[in-house]
Amino acid sequence: TVVPKIAPSLLSGDFAKLASECQRMLDDGADYLHMDVMDGHFVPNLTLGAPIIKSLRPHTKGFLDCHLMVSHPEQWVDDFAKAGADLFCFHLEAAEDTSALVKKIHEKGMKAGIAVKPNTPIEDVFPYAGEADQILIMTVEPGFGGQAFMTSCIEKVRKLREKFPSLDIEVDGGLAPDTIDAAAEAGANVIVAGSSIFKADSPKDMIKLLRDRVQV
Ligand code: DX5
Ligand code: ZN
Repeated sequence: TVVPKIAPSLLSGDFAKLASECQRMLDDGADYLHMDVMDGHFVPNLTLGAPIIKSLRPHTKGFLDCHLMVSHPEQWVDDFAKAGADLFCFHLEAAEDTSALVKKIHEKGMKAGIAVKPNTPIEDVFPYAGEADQILIMTVEPGFGGQAFMTSCIEKVRKLREKFPSLDIEVDGGLAPDTIDAAAEAGANVIVAGSSIFKADSPKDMIKLLRDRVQV
């Protein structure tokens, strides 16, 4: 059975005080800490890598939901496992051998996630959805926080939920009070939100609002 999980994206936080930003989000009710890893190649932006996860790990007990927007994700599995990542989510578009990569992530003791960009047909992920712990459906083009939610991606959530009733389905990009209902109604249960949570007057109230709208 799926349960709602809210995953604030630390990309919208202050990287200079990452540990306290993580603690603040957990205190405000976050279930996951969503860490956006970008390599300047798979996406046109650079953020953080395994060294930052490693430095952060002793400072938080939070579940580190690592979203790797990188080419050649295979090469980072060992480093992220050693750094203490809880979930390693790679992009289907970047993987050479998807099944082998899921297996390697599991062997290293992490949960495995598979992400798809807005233009990738959801059917492409069906063969692997039974092996993965979570599927991430991007609802913006990956690379930056603060972009507008793409309604065109909702149908992908619905199709995936129809086939996989108990799968953790994560949505990422533009989730806010005006878009959460569409995502939740289609079947998403893990909600990433960066700007809507960090820019809210009360991040705690925003996390609660998002969670209350998720239907299970
Ligand atoms: C974008 C990242 C997202 C981003 C979401 O490529 O994967 O996690 O931080 O930010 P918002 O919620 O502001 O769209
Ligand atoms: Zn993300």
